[in-house]
Amino acid sequence: MNDVMLDKMTGGDKTAITRPEHVAIIMDGNGRWATQRGLPRSVGHKAGVEALRRTIRAACESGVGYLTVFGFSSENWKRPDEEVSQLMSLLRRFIRRDLAELHRQNVRIKVVGGRDGLEPNILALLSEAEELTGQNSGLNFVVAFNYGGRDEIARAAARMARAVAAGELTPGEVNEDVVAGFLDTAGIPDPDLVIRTSGEQRLSNFLTWQCAYSEMLFLDVYWPDFSDSHFQAALEAYGRRDRRFGGLEPVSAVQG
Ligand code: FPP
Repeated sequence: MNDVMLDKMTGGDKTAITRPEHVAIIMDGNGRWATQRGLPRSVGHKAGVEALRRTIRAACESGVGYLTVFGFSSENWKRPDEEVSQLMSLLRRFIRRDLAELHRQNVRIKVVGGRDGLEPNILALLSEAEELTGQNSGLNFVVAFNYGGRDEIARAAARMARAVAAGELTPGEVNEDVVAGFLDTAGIPDPDLVIRTSGEQRLSNFLTWQCAYSEMLFLDVYWPDFSDSHFQAALEAYGRRDRRFGGLEPVSAVQG
């Protein structure tokens, strides 16, 4: 069971709500946020980085174990070259500027997604972030970068096929746990809660395998406006959900 109990004081009444162990976020709406203000889309992405910083702090403070964010999808290469290069620069700047502070906050960084096609300087920064913070014991911050759920499953299938060809695995041994162990997210619990901002209501190839039983929360707020109070409200909304995982009894319910 991924949930841990969070005691919450409300109006003098002590109510324990279940807290998600793993929150995953599709940070959508940077472009529309900027366009609404007559600004270039790049300004929206920069504001999106600020929202990301706030959210990492909120996740650290709330005691969530894992925060995964969709930073760049394997389909985002279809955007104009200028926007792709702005997003790459933002990631570079984010790691260069924030890595020391994240390390100080005991955050452990992990990057999931394909590494092929990424520039050497980005690859080096991603490795540096993972190596520097690899022994930290606070928030696990997972960045899905150059990530697509189907691509991840296809790469895992190729690795499994190689393991079978090498005699390290037999087809009869392949089960859900084995497949999960070949994914980029091996060792990371499935998301309990997926939040998507901007009002769009779809998964867009995000953690396709892992979200089979995740609770979904779609918020009508553009990502740059996502605040600590949205994050807290999302945790509370999660605490009110009944999760049955295909059974009849809720396995993670509000405890009075
Ligand atoms: C969706 O908004 C957002 C993205 C494609 C990228 C998210 C990136 C960031 C928040 C900043 C950088 C990330 C990291 C990990 C440092 P959109 O552009 O699709 O907005 P729209 O749907 O309104 O056009």
